[in-house]
Amino acid sequence: MPYEVTLIPGDGCGAQVADVMRDLVAATGVDIQWDLQTGADLDAMVASVRRTGVALKGKIVSVAAGGKMPLTLQFRKKLGVHAIVRHVIHLPGLPARAPGTNLVVVREASEDIYSGFEHESTDGVFESVKVTTRAACERISTFAFEYAVRHGRKRVTTVHKANILKKADGMFLAVSREVAARYPSIQHDDIIVDALCMRIVRRPSDFDVLLCGNLFGDIVSDVAAGMAGGVTVACGTCYADGAVVFENPHGTSVEVVGPDGANPYPMIGMAVDLLRYLGEIDASARLRHACVAALEAGVHTGDMGGTAGTQEVHAAVRGGLTSAR
Ligand code: IPM
Ligand code: MG
Repeated sequence: MPYEVTLIPGDGCGAQVADVMRDLVAATGVDIQWDLQTGADLDAMVASVRRTGVALKGKIVSVAAGGKMPLTLQFRKKLGVHAIVRHVIHLPGLPARAPGTNLVVVREASEDIYSGFEHESTDGVFESVKVTTRAACERISTFAFEYAVRHGRKRVTTVHKANILKKADGMFLAVSREVAARYPSIQHDDIIVDALCMRIVRRPSDFDVLLCGNLFGDIVSDVAAGMAGGVTVACGTCYADGAVVFENPHGTSVEVVGPDGANPYPMIGMAVDLLRYLGEIDASARLRHACVAALEAGVHTGDMGGTAGTQEVHAAVRGGLTSAR
């Protein structure tokens, strides 16, 4: 019986890199039946993920201002995504400012400024509401500590701006301390978000698990990924009740990078995570190994400062998979 997995390639180069990923997964010998969703039909996307329980999703383009909330947000909301985990770990061979990076951003994903409550209270005055509930703080703090226990992590650091947001972030911090008390084997401390950003840029290896609200988690995960090699290591996993979505927040348009310019490593990396999640440990390890071998051989795309095109990466990783057999 093949596994059934929802595939939302996303816009721009999504379809191209998804094709590469599918071919490589097939080459590992794992049989996956992909339920292809265009990303234009929100209800169909959500229904598919509810049915399969697992999805791989590329970037869906969102407009910077005006109109509705980005489709990605509507999708997360409808599916009930409450946590996003971005494990930012440098890969051997990947050009990076901070090759030692290995940290995990645990991001609350159901509230904060993403609740979408904005209004113009009087002419030229806008209020954007940041929502924080005790229930969501407890859920994400517990999630972070459970994650730390299950993955052999030693320390959870709560990220906040409680010096200014006394009530909302004050509660986020207080609740994380309450939850921390139930996990004596995991160290706990906290840091104000701006100081954290500076320290990540100076020495990301200082951090282990970062427990963040929605907005800070969004920003901090990209700062960390920027240090560890860029979009290749910026993907994450969204958790909802009964569903898991491997998600790439980045992706480029064909107009920007040209017909063969897209970097397929992030999408292949998500397949590595997917295979592990499905219990296909050996196939996952072989695919990861083939990616690392290609990176170490200098098969670098434009965003890494290299010249390799999508198909060159495809061929290199496929070659690595075959020779490992
Ligand atoms: C991300 C993205 C999204 C977010 C956007 C596209 C809504 O930046 O997944 O990191 O802010 O969560
Ligand atoms: Mg982001």
